[in-house]
Amino acid sequence: MKDIYILAIETSCDETSIAIVKNGCDCIYMNVLSQMDIHADFGGVVPEVASRMHTENITMVLEDVLKKSKMKIEDIDAIAVSYAPGLLGSLLVGVEFAKTLSYLFDKPLIAVNHIAGHIYANNLTNELKFPLLALVISGGHTDLVMMEKDYDFKVLGKTLDDAIGEAFDKVARVLDLKYPGGPNVEKLALKGKNTYKLGYYDDKNSYNLSYSGLKSSVINTVHNEKQRGNKINKSDLACSFQTQAFEQVLKKLEKAILNLGIKNIIVAGGVSASKYLRKEIKALCDKYNVNLSIPDFKYCTDNAGMIGAAAYPLYLKGKFSSLDLNASSSSEIF
Ligand code: KG4
Ligand code: ZN
Repeated sequence: MKDIYILAIETSCDETSIAIVKNGCDCIYMNVLSQMDIHADFGGVVPEVASRMHTENITMVLEDVLKKSKMKIEDIDAIAVSYAPGLLGSLLVGVEFAKTLSYLFDKPLIAVNHIAGHIYANNLTNELKFPLLALVISGGHTDLVMMEKDYDFKVLGKTLDDAIGEAFDKVARVLDLKYPGGPNVEKLALKGKNTYKLGYYDDKNSYNLSYSGLKSSVINTVHNEKQRGNKINKSDLACSFQTQAFEQVLKKLEKAILNLGIKNIIVAGGVSASKYLRKEIKALCDKYNVNLSIPDFKYCTDNAGMIGAAAYPLYLKGKFSSLDLNASSSSEIF
């Protein structure tokens, strides 16, 4: 079969990224232009600034990708774009850009859900083996999803309130750490111990998780200690939060392995960049002889490579979009 080259675009949050992916598994070249430093000054992503910066940078990012990959748009088989969920103004920049390229160069357009992108990012590192259990952990998602085949998603459990990445970002703020919170909490936690008993809601009868109670417990601990004039051990608090946040995930994965006979686990989403979590999940999977796949670090946080990987099964099925494609901030796949 002829090789299929997909030019993929990702602009759902604060990364302007374009990649060329061959056959859904080989990222030929990828450029990820992060706006992180600009948003860090505001303590989080400012949607208006993000979409303006995508508009300013996207053409330059495309030029770089074509130059470095030594490819022309004429050589590309399809244009893929992340259309939902995310920041509406940011998504729109990518969607309109993709539609323009599709029209100008007469290439099929493929609309990719951003969360499917995180799942398929694994194909850039290890090929997905079905049936599998996907742990999706990002700034907006905390889901345990069963997949029997491509694009077949059955939710086993999900967060009842906050997403895990969102909780990391809020805890980071309370601990006076810079945006993005997750990696900074992890860095601080390295210097601490799991000494604070924070607690969280654990529904033992389901695969659901909860992060709002754990997050509030950190906030209350900081306020109470301040009121009493006590000094907070921030690294111990960061370590306690991180340990207890991931403990929930590990418990549910173990329950699924024992009760459902899971043989393949994949991890997806920005939080899978956590070195602590990667080590703990590997130990759990080794203990029960379960195959584990986690994307390379560069494919964990938002990137266009994962959109090209997720577009490939849609290309094979001929699932193309029309030029009426619109962005959506909330469209879910599960
Ligand atoms: O997938 P992603 O890049 O964007 C969304 O689609 O949400 O995920 C970003 C999230 C942020 O909440 C960030 O704090 C978190 O992933 N994150 C981490 C780590 N690296 C990124 N959380 C914990 N530990 C990390 N090392
Ligand atoms: Zn993401």
